[in-house]
Amino acid sequence: MLSLRCTHAALLALVALLATAAVADTKGKNQCVINGKSKAEEELLKKLDPLVALNSALNYSAGEYTYTLKVCQEIDGDSAGLLQKKADKKTILGRINETQIFGGTDWIMLIYEGGEKYDSHCGKEKRRAYIMISCNRKTLANGFTIVTEERDKDQGCLYLFEMDSSLACPPEDTHLSIGSILLITFASLVAVYIIGGFLYQRLIVGAKGMEQFPHFAFWQDLGNLVADGCDFVCRSKPRNVPTAYRGVGDDQLGEEPEERDDHLLPM
Ligand SMILES: *[C@@H]1O[C@H](CO)[C@@H](O)[C@H](O)[C@H]1NC(C)=O
Ligand SMILES: *[C@@H]1O[C@H](CO)[C@@H](O)[C@H](O)[C@H]1NC(C)=O
Repeated sequence: MLSLRCTHAALLALVALLATAAVADTKGKNQCVINGKSKAEEELLKKLDPLVALNSALNYSAGEYTYTLKVCQEIDGDSAGLLQKKADKKTILGRINETQIFGGTDWIMLIYEGGEKYDSHCGKEKRRAYIMISCNRKTLANGFTIVTEERDKDQGCLYLFEMDSSLACPPEDTHLSIGSILLITFASLVAVYIIGGFLYQRLIVGAKGMEQFPHFAFWQDLGNLVADGCDFVCRSKPRNVPTAYRGVGDDQLGEEPEERDDHLLPM
């Protein structure tokens, strides 16, 4: 008798433990159920996980109504995902076990269907709540607002809400344009050329000073050529000193003093 009771108690304790474990397990879990969901929907649902993990009820008051939203988590049981409260009257606008989801580049639309039936409007169909989540990199969730309630139709009525979240944002664009890739490649090649050439000239050839730059003579010649070309193309008036005359003068100036010095040396 005693041992039977013991087993009984142990079993009860085990069941209680399992139950708490199950509750704890669903606490931060995405509880949205999409009937016959596709791969795209599954991925979008997964995207919402950080919002689900928050597990916080967002509230919004508009006049006498208060709306409470949880993203893919149950509010106060009965699979409620979006609740409307007016004084003591609670109305479930949508349920997490009848979810639909789709999205674009910077928005996600989460739909809770299967809410409580309209009393007289909308052909007495079940209420449904559309939650438009728009990209805002500054926040994960900073509340939501009601945009409109469409209920002057025979069917297809809806409550439309909107909220901002970074979850709806496209991944940050880190792609470089082809132009900048080319520019970076070119700059890297130039750097490799200069540094490699410098090291080669210095360590292997044993050059000193400006000669350490790779192909120094070539670049000097090129520089002169460019300067000449520019002189030829850009200059609109001839130089005031004729080149030929200046060339002769320079040559003479360069050589003469040495010759004179030679004469001055004592014989
Ligand atoms: C929203 O309201 C519920 C109760 O109606 C409350 O438990 C919850 O903490 C509120 N959420 C916030 C963020 O104030
Ligand atoms: C969703 O849950 C509600 C209440 O728990 C239930 O009445 C309804 O049948 C469920 N919907 C589906 C599609 O399972």
